[in-house]
Amino acid sequence: MKVLFLNGPNLNLLGTREPDKYGTQTLADIETKVRELAASREVDVEFRQSNLEGELVTWIQTAAQDGFDSVVLNAAAYTHTSVAIRDAIGAVQTPVIEIHLSNVHAREEFRHTSLIAPVCRGQIAGFGANSYLLGLEAALTLT
Ligand code: DQA
Repeated sequence: MKVLFLNGPNLNLLGTREPDKYGTQTLADIETKVRELAASREVDVEFRQSNLEGELVTWIQTAAQDGFDSVVLNAAAYTHTSVAIRDAIGAVQTPVIEIHLSNVHAREEFRHTSLIAPVCRGQIAGFGANSYLLGLEAALTLT
């Protein structure tokens, strides 16, 4: 089994970016933890990050042909704005799990709306870096 972790804009700044909201772990730290869990479950994982909406769209489109069974997606700010990412998820058979470090529903009103939620298999939000581990666990339930 292969799971693709996609990370949207500004997540490359984790570690120093608003640590009160997103914690002090870098994306590389989170990837290390996910890889440890994945190894214990005998799953392959790949991590990608982009600040570009279209690149995320392309990665969703090509996930299946790249051999991935599912996608765990932290679309970051694009969660709340991107019709293009929503349409990409809706266009493919690959199951997508939406994750967030913070509890978006407890934050500003504009973060309460996820344009991608209706086309994702489910949403995990508010568990900090553990949202990524829970995202992998969720992906495993889809096999
Ligand atoms: C986020 C929440 C989004 O609202 C925000 O724009 C992010 C990160 C999270 O992981 O908590 O960049 O997706």
